[in-house]
Amino acid sequence: MKKKLMAGNWKMNGSLQANADLVKALLAGLPADSSSAGCSIALCVPAVYLAQVSALLESSDVDLGAQDVSQHAVGAFTGETSAAMLKDFSVRYAIVGHSERRQYHHETDALVAQKALQALASGVTPIVCVGETLDEREAGQTEAVVKRQLAAVIHANGHCISEIVVAYEPVWAIGTGKTASPEQAQQVHAVLRAQLAAATPHAARVAILYGGSMNAANAKQLLAQPDIDGGLVGGASLKAPDFLSIIAAARVE
Ligand code: 13P
Repeated sequence: MKKKLMAGNWKMNGSLQANADLVKALLAGLPADSSSAGCSIALCVPAVYLAQVSALLESSDVDLGAQDVSQHAVGAFTGETSAAMLKDFSVRYAIVGHSERRQYHHETDALVAQKALQALASGVTPIVCVGETLDEREAGQTEAVVKRQLAAVIHANGHCISEIVVAYEPVWAIGTGKTASPEQAQQVHAVLRAQLAAATPHAARVAILYGGSMNAANAKQLLAQPDIDGGLVGGASLKAPDFLSIIAAARVE
């Protein structure tokens, strides 16, 4: 079985002190040789703390991630952070198209695809988020929505598509305590896998993560599904004991 990828998304939380305490507690709770944690681990932190967390993670196997990246390579784009800048701080992953950015910053499928392209061009792995709202699910549009969102990224990225990570995050499950059932999640993951398979012979190696109220109690069953390759964890990644329990559930012996 392939190694799971467990990524924490801190969203807009943290402080210098809180970050240091959280990372210290996480590293203390992982096996000494953290490759024997049995899964890959990443922390996606606010841009302003990338340098701090990069230094805190330096002697560990835990990877660093950003929560967004510019669709441009360089230039007069006030407030933006380029993929090359992320790379300067040893950032391995960048979340793109999180539903909070699609909703509050009006990010379109085409923009998200450009962000994925910029990340890949600088050697940063985009974690492309897709997911339907409750209204869309109730209208029977779940498949159409996630396929449309992923299609834009496939279209813009061509054969590089096997280098991305996908995260299925049903919007109605984010921060609500409502989780997709393992069957509901698997059904969508299988749709995404088939869509990737039509675009690349390497679809099996693309990690498709589940995100949305993942916790220690539901992680094991979700992660047991054949097409769920890991998790993108919000709230529970801010508490070391909770994130460590989820990581333990992801362990592949
Ligand atoms: P929660 O785990 O807090 O529901 O957040 C999920 C998420 O949005 C991760 O990107």
